[in-house]
Amino acid sequence: MRAMIGTWRMSLGGVARGLGLLEAGADCLDAVTEAVAFVEDDPAFTSVGFGGLPDREGCVTADAALMDGGTLRLGGVMSAQNIRNPIRAARRLVERAENCLLAGEGAQRFAREAGLEMQDLRTPQALARWREALAQRDAVRQPYRGHDTVCVLALDEAGRMAAGTSTSGLFLKEPGRVGDSPLVGSGFYCDARYGAAAATGLGEEIMRGCLSYEVVSLMRRGAGPHDACVRALRGLQARLKRQGETMRDVSLIALTPAGIFGAATSLRVFPFAAGKDGAAEVYLAGSDGQTRRASPGEADAQP
Ligand code: GLY
Repeated sequence: MRAMIGTWRMSLGGVARGLGLLEAGADCLDAVTEAVAFVEDDPAFTSVGFGGLPDREGCVTADAALMDGGTLRLGGVMSAQNIRNPIRAARRLVERAENCLLAGEGAQRFAREAGLEMQDLRTPQALARWREALAQRDAVRQPYRGHDTVCVLALDEAGRMAAGTSTSGLFLKEPGRVGDSPLVGSGFYCDARYGAAAATGLGEEIMRGCLSYEVVSLMRRGAGPHDACVRALRGLQARLKRQGETMRDVSLIALTPAGIFGAATSLRVFPFAAGKDGAAEVYLAGSDGQTRRASPGEADAQP
């Protein structure tokens, strides 16, 4: 069984590419890397890679990570500039037993020395949106306007599993701000014995519940992937409610070693792409806990 799931409709092309690679016998880590890189390369997606929206000072800084569900090794970069595909840096770093998570200049130096493509990730369109937002005085005080991390989980024919994430983080974030995406247990977790999970949405909320680890931990204790996502999400929602707070945007995806996937969201609708041994399709998870396949018209209308 080969299976792959990715956050948002934007991951559809990447998931299709990753599934094709798995079909051709690619390693699970490579298939996830290529699926995420496909999304990073598209400037139409303004929350990931090339074309990502800048921080307050006009810089695009990326967070990305990759985890091997067999060895539990992980690699990642955070607050890194000018790495064309941050996930490719994570792919190299996941091979390491130490120094596998690098930030800022250290991450950039590593990528340069590893021969990875370096490029300014700012497009003229992204810079125009940044200038426009700065001109609106309240935008800087309210940087969260909805954004999305690409997360991809995969299972290959040999039962290997991997999880990858990539994001340029919040538009107008404070320089140096890091979200959940490169943080193991929060943005992603993968243990091939029990499954993989990843999160998208507001990192500051996701980190409070270590939500990806929580999903895998629930699966370890016997929950199905859908149930595990719903329980992890609702558990944090209830916990924050006791503090008098309303949890902001969070969505979760999960995949089991049997290739069964699940998702949950605090949004009205959360689109994701998934496929098994063939074509990828778009699914819609709702805040009511239900998930269904999107019709072609619905799929095209999703972010
Ligand atoms: N979930 C990505 C971020 O908050 O940056």
